[in-house]
Amino acid sequence: MVKAVLFDLDGVITDTAKYHYRAWKKLAEQLGISFDRAFNENLKGVSRKDSLDLILKHGNKENQYTSEEKEDLMEEKNTIYLEMIEQLTPKAILPGIHSLLEDLKEKGIKIGLASASKNGPMILEKLEIATYFDTIANPAEVKRGKPFPDLYLTAAKQLNIEPQECVGIEDAKSGVEAILAANMVAIGVGDKDTLQGAQYVVENTEQLNTELILSVWSKVYES
Ligand code: BG6
Ligand code: MG
Repeated sequence: MVKAVLFDLDGVITDTAKYHYRAWKKLAEQLGISFDRAFNENLKGVSRKDSLDLILKHGNKENQYTSEEKEDLMEEKNTIYLEMIEQLTPKAILPGIHSLLEDLKEKGIKIGLASASKNGPMILEKLEIATYFDTIANPAEVKRGKPFPDLYLTAAKQLNIEPQECVGIEDAKSGVEAILAANMVAIGVGDKDTLQGAQYVVENTEQLNTELILSVWSKVYES
């Protein structure tokens, strides 16, 4: 039985992935590091700190900054990002997500957030969907970010539900890897090639619904 559905946030619940991209691009270019969408794929789902390290490495500047300077750079990126999402409203919820949350709730299936973003709780508030969530894994408290399973395992543990009874939904390669490493069933949103490994991939969130989630899970355990 599926007892919980665990959601990634950026790129699954709302399209904030594009703001993370733009904010990092602005910062990287200030540092003289080229940045495009292809490189950005490596950052999806990845924590703020790991993202900065990957960007600096990409620009061959990994040894040029002290930890304090790196803290400042992360802060700067977050300030740019927060300005971009200041006007976020429930209109920014991706298609199909609101009705999915509603339906899961109605069917008594628990809902969790397993996002790497420290801005997650604030974004759920802005989108006016925080009350649907039975639990939120706190990225500040987990040891390892995605692709490690820690965020997903923490969410399941907080719900007192076994990983095998959870389905995770992700738009990033690192996220799908995290779900699989947690021994959960993974549904990807986006490109099949990028998200290979997921037990099922939909092109967009509009295609997500409870029936599909339950049937993907059943197929995994029937086979
Ligand atoms: C993930 C995003 O959800 O959160 C990443 O996909 C982002 O792009 C990460 O870097 C951390 O987010 P934040 O809001 O804590 O900087
Ligand atoms: Mg994401």
